[in-house]
Amino acid sequence: MTPIAILLSGRGTNMVALADRVASGDIDADIAFVASDRADAPGLDRAKERGLRTVLLPYGERGKEGAEAFLTRLVEDEGVDWIVLAGFMRLLSSSFVSRQCGKIVNIHPSLLPSFPGVDAIGQAWNYGVAVTGVTVHLVDEKMDHGPILAQEALSLKGGESLHDLEERIHHVEHRLYGDTLKRLLSSRLIFEGRRVTFD
Ligand code: GAR
Repeated sequence: MTPIAILLSGRGTNMVALADRVASGDIDADIAFVASDRADAPGLDRAKERGLRTVLLPYGERGKEGAEAFLTRLVEDEGVDWIVLAGFMRLLSSSFVSRQCGKIVNIHPSLLPSFPGVDAIGQAWNYGVAVTGVTVHLVDEKMDHGPILAQEALSLKGGESLHDLEERIHHVEHRLYGDTLKRLLSSRLIFEGRRVTFD
Protein backbone atom coordinates (compact mmCIF):
# COMPACT_ATOMS: atom_id res chain seq x y z
CA MET A 1 0.00 0.00 0.00
CA THR A 2 1.33 3.40 -0.97
CA PRO A 3 1.14 6.04 1.75
CA ILE A 4 -0.54 9.19 0.41
CA ALA A 5 -1.59 12.53 1.88
CA ILE A 6 -4.60 14.49 0.63
CA LEU A 7 -4.58 18.31 0.75
CA LEU A 8 -7.78 20.35 0.45
CA SER A 9 -9.14 23.84 1.07
CA GLY A 10 -12.90 23.39 0.68
CA ARG A 11 -15.77 20.93 0.60
CA GLY A 12 -13.66 17.83 0.14
CA THR A 13 -15.95 15.92 -2.22
CA ASN A 14 -12.96 14.69 -4.24
CA MET A 15 -11.25 13.61 -1.02
CA VAL A 16 -14.40 11.65 -0.07
CA ALA A 17 -14.55 9.95 -3.48
CA LEU A 18 -10.89 8.94 -3.19
CA ALA A 19 -11.21 7.86 0.46
CA ASP A 20 -14.18 5.63 -0.43
CA ARG A 21 -12.17 3.88 -3.15
CA VAL A 22 -9.18 3.48 -0.83
CA ALA A 23 -11.45 2.09 1.93
CA SER A 24 -13.01 -0.42 -0.50
CA GLY A 25 -9.53 -1.66 -1.47
CA ASP A 26 -9.96 -0.53 -5.08
CA ILE A 27 -7.05 1.91 -4.77
CA ASP A 28 -4.03 0.34 -3.11
CA ALA A 29 -3.12 3.27 -0.86
CA ASP A 30 -3.07 4.25 2.76
CA ILE A 31 -4.24 7.80 3.55
CA ALA A 32 -1.68 8.94 6.13
CA PHE A 33 -3.47 12.24 6.72
CA VAL A 34 -5.77 14.85 5.22
CA ALA A 35 -4.42 18.40 5.56
CA SER A 36 -5.91 21.82 4.93
CA ASP A 37 -4.73 25.41 4.94
CA ARG A 38 -8.19 26.39 6.25
CA ALA A 39 -9.51 25.46 9.68
CA ASP A 40 -13.08 25.99 8.43
CA ALA A 41 -12.78 23.67 5.40
CA PRO A 42 -15.82 21.34 5.47
CA GLY A 43 -13.55 18.68 3.98
CA LEU A 44 -11.70 18.39 7.31
CA ASP A 45 -14.94 17.40 9.09
CA ARG A 46 -15.74 14.94 6.33
CA ALA A 47 -12.27 13.37 6.76
CA LYS A 48 -12.73 13.17 10.56
CA GLU A 49 -16.13 11.47 10.07
CA ARG A 50 -14.29 8.81 8.09
CA GLY A 51 -11.77 8.31 10.89
CA LEU A 52 -8.94 9.89 8.92
CA ARG A 53 -6.21 11.88 10.63
CA THR A 54 -6.64 15.60 9.92
CA VAL A 55 -3.99 18.31 10.08
CA LEU A 56 -4.22 22.10 9.88
CA LEU A 57 -1.32 23.60 7.94
CA PRO A 58 -0.09 26.76 9.73
CA TYR A 59 -0.19 29.17 6.76
CA GLY A 60 -1.81 31.81 9.00
CA GLU A 61 0.78 31.79 11.78
CA ARG A 62 3.96 30.81 9.94
CA GLY A 63 3.39 31.91 6.34
CA LYS A 64 4.02 29.81 3.24
CA GLU A 65 7.61 28.86 4.10
CA GLY A 66 6.73 27.80 7.64
CA ALA A 67 3.63 25.90 6.52
CA GLU A 68 5.57 24.05 3.82
CA ALA A 69 8.36 23.20 6.32
CA PHE A 70 5.66 21.81 8.65
CA LEU A 71 4.17 19.78 5.79
CA THR A 72 7.59 18.50 4.69
CA ARG A 73 8.28 17.22 8.21
CA LEU A 74 4.90 15.49 8.33
CA VAL A 75 5.39 13.92 4.91
CA GLU A 76 8.82 12.61 5.92
CA ASP A 77 7.66 11.35 9.33
CA GLU A 78 4.75 9.48 7.76
CA GLY A 79 6.75 8.20 4.78
CA VAL A 80 4.21 9.74 2.38
CA ASP A 81 4.99 8.83 -1.22
CA TRP A 82 2.39 10.86 -3.17
CA ILE A 83 0.70 14.12 -2.22
CA VAL A 84 -2.78 14.37 -3.72
CA LEU A 85 -4.24 17.87 -4.09
CA ALA A 86 -8.04 17.79 -3.99
CA GLY A 87 -9.20 21.39 -4.18
CA PHE A 88 -6.09 22.74 -2.40
CA MET A 89 -6.10 26.39 -3.42
CA ARG A 90 -2.48 27.35 -2.59
CA LEU A 91 0.48 27.36 -4.91
CA LEU A 92 3.28 25.12 -3.59
CA SER A 93 6.80 26.56 -3.91
CA SER A 94 9.26 25.13 -6.41
CA SER A 95 11.54 24.02 -3.56
CA PHE A 96 8.68 22.06 -1.98
CA VAL A 97 7.77 20.47 -5.32
CA SER A 98 11.37 19.44 -6.04
CA ARG A 99 11.89 18.11 -2.49
CA GLN A 100 8.86 15.89 -3.12
CA CYS A 101 10.55 14.76 -6.40
CA GLY A 102 7.49 15.95 -8.32
CA LYS A 103 5.31 13.27 -6.69
CA ILE A 104 2.34 15.60 -6.34
CA VAL A 105 -0.86 15.28 -8.35
CA ASN A 106 -3.73 17.74 -8.83
CA ILE A 107 -7.23 17.82 -10.30
CA HIS A 108 -8.61 20.88 -12.07
CA PRO A 109 -12.15 21.41 -13.40
CA SER A 110 -11.30 22.54 -16.94
CA LEU A 111 -9.43 21.29 -19.97
CA LEU A 112 -6.03 22.81 -19.19
CA PRO A 113 -4.34 24.94 -20.37
CA SER A 114 -7.71 26.71 -20.65
CA PHE A 115 -9.05 28.39 -17.52
CA PRO A 116 -6.44 27.78 -14.80
CA GLY A 117 -6.92 29.29 -11.33
CA VAL A 118 -10.04 29.78 -9.26
CA ASP A 119 -13.60 29.21 -10.45
CA ALA A 120 -12.56 27.42 -13.63
CA ILE A 121 -16.08 26.15 -14.29
CA GLY A 122 -17.50 29.68 -14.03
CA GLN A 123 -14.68 31.06 -16.19
CA ALA A 124 -15.46 28.52 -18.94
CA TRP A 125 -19.20 29.13 -18.62
CA ASN A 126 -18.81 32.92 -18.86
CA TYR A 127 -16.51 32.53 -21.87
CA GLY A 128 -19.30 30.62 -23.61
CA VAL A 129 -17.34 27.45 -24.40
CA ALA A 130 -19.11 24.56 -26.12
CA VAL A 131 -16.74 22.00 -24.61
CA THR A 132 -15.02 21.92 -21.22
CA GLY A 133 -13.87 19.14 -18.90
CA VAL A 134 -11.54 17.88 -16.22
CA THR A 135 -7.75 17.54 -16.06
CA VAL A 136 -5.58 15.46 -13.72
CA HIS A 137 -1.95 16.52 -13.84
CA LEU A 138 1.38 16.40 -12.08
CA VAL A 139 2.20 19.52 -10.10
CA ASP A 140 5.05 21.86 -10.90
CA GLU A 141 5.84 25.31 -9.53
CA LYS A 142 3.24 27.04 -11.74
CA MET A 143 -0.52 27.18 -11.12
CA ASP A 144 -2.47 24.30 -12.74
CA HIS A 145 0.39 23.70 -15.14
CA GLY A 146 2.33 20.42 -14.80
CA PRO A 147 2.33 17.47 -17.24
CA ILE A 148 -1.13 16.07 -17.97
CA LEU A 149 -2.00 12.55 -16.79
CA ALA A 150 -5.66 12.42 -17.85
CA GLN A 151 -8.34 14.63 -19.37
CA GLU A 152 -12.01 14.11 -20.04
CA ALA A 153 -14.15 16.46 -22.12
CA LEU A 154 -17.81 17.37 -21.65
CA SER A 155 -19.99 19.10 -24.23
CA LEU A 156 -22.33 21.72 -22.86
CA LYS A 157 -26.01 20.91 -23.28
CA GLY A 158 -28.35 23.50 -24.74
CA GLY A 159 -30.02 25.49 -21.97
CA GLU A 160 -27.84 23.87 -19.29
CA SER A 161 -27.42 26.02 -16.16
CA LEU A 162 -24.04 26.73 -14.57
CA HIS A 163 -25.20 24.72 -11.56
CA ASP A 164 -26.00 21.68 -13.73
CA LEU A 165 -22.64 21.96 -15.49
CA GLU A 166 -20.85 22.11 -12.12
CA GLU A 167 -22.68 18.96 -11.02
CA ARG A 168 -21.67 17.11 -14.20
CA ILE A 169 -18.04 18.22 -13.89
CA HIS A 170 -17.81 17.15 -10.25
CA HIS A 171 -19.33 13.80 -11.18
CA VAL A 172 -16.57 13.28 -13.78
CA GLU A 173 -13.92 14.48 -11.31
CA HIS A 174 -14.95 11.96 -8.69
CA ARG A 175 -14.48 9.08 -11.12
CA LEU A 176 -11.49 10.33 -13.12
CA TYR A 177 -9.34 11.24 -10.10
CA GLY A 178 -9.69 7.77 -8.57
CA ASP A 179 -9.08 6.03 -11.90
CA THR A 180 -5.96 8.11 -12.55
CA LEU A 181 -4.56 7.74 -9.03
CA LYS A 182 -5.06 3.98 -9.21
CA ARG A 183 -3.08 3.87 -12.45
CA LEU A 184 -0.43 6.23 -11.13
CA LEU A 185 0.23 4.11 -8.04
CA SER A 186 0.58 0.91 -10.02
CA SER A 187 2.58 2.13 -13.04
CA ARG A 188 5.86 3.68 -14.02
CA LEU A 189 5.62 7.03 -15.74
CA ILE A 190 7.44 7.62 -19.02
CA PHE A 191 8.20 11.25 -19.89
CA GLU A 192 8.78 12.74 -23.33
CA GLY A 193 8.94 16.43 -22.60
CA ARG A 194 5.55 17.32 -21.17
CA ARG A 195 3.99 14.15 -22.59
CA VAL A 196 3.46 11.43 -19.98
CA THR A 197 2.47 7.82 -20.58
CA PHE A 198 1.86 5.01 -18.12
CA ASP A 199 4.04 1.92 -18.52
C1 GAR B 1 -12.71 20.75 -7.52
O1 GAR B 1 -13.59 21.08 -8.55
C2 GAR B 1 -11.28 20.81 -7.99
O2 GAR B 1 -11.11 20.40 -9.32
C3 GAR B 1 -10.98 22.28 -7.83
O3 GAR B 1 -11.54 22.61 -6.60
C4 GAR B 1 -12.72 21.82 -6.42
C5 GAR B 1 -12.68 21.22 -5.05
O4 GAR B 1 -13.90 20.58 -4.75
N1 GAR B 1 -9.56 22.55 -7.89
C6 GAR B 1 -9.04 23.60 -8.49
O5 GAR B 1 -9.71 24.49 -8.98
C7 GAR B 1 -7.52 23.64 -8.51
N2 GAR B 1 -7.06 24.74 -9.24
P1 GAR B 1 -13.99 19.58 -3.53
O6 GAR B 1 -13.38 20.32 -2.31
O7 GAR B 1 -15.45 19.34 -3.35
O8 GAR B 1 -13.20 18.35 -3.87
